[in-house]
Amino acid sequence: MKIAIINGPNLNLLGRREPGIYGSKGFDAFLDELKAKYANISFEYFQSNIEGELVDALQKLGKEADGIILNPAAYTHTSVAIGDAIAAIDSPVIEVHVSNVHAREDFRKISHVSAKAVGTIAGLGLTGYQLAVDYFISKKM
Ligand code: DQA
Repeated sequence: MKIAIINGPNLNLLGRREPGIYGSKGFDAFLDELKAKYANISFEYFQSNIEGELVDALQKLGKEADGIILNPAAYTHTSVAIGDAIAAIDSPVIEVHVSNVHAREDFRKISHVSAKAVGTIAGLGLTGYQLAVDYFISKKM
């Protein structure tokens, strides 16, 4: 089973970026833990700060992955193109946010992704990614 994780802008700074909101663990360390915990899963990880690269990754991985876990970060709130890409691909997408976007500024309550995703997990920290993996595994069995 292949699961793709796609992270948007500034998530390469997790662990150092506003740790009071996003926590103090870097994504690479978290991904290592995830790979060790789910040894039977093939993980593909992609991060970009560039909107079009995220669209390209969705188009590519949308043909290959059994499921995609997507945190579009700030593009969640602005990108029609990322929403359209999710609607265009075959793979199911789960939207994940580390922070509780609904408890923050009003602009973070808007998502161009949620309506196209299978579901959304927000506010559970990096555990949200793991819960999304569990969901895809449960659907594959
Ligand atoms: C985020 C929430 C977004 O509002 C923000 O722009 C991010 C990260 C999250 O994971 O909590 O960069 O997607």
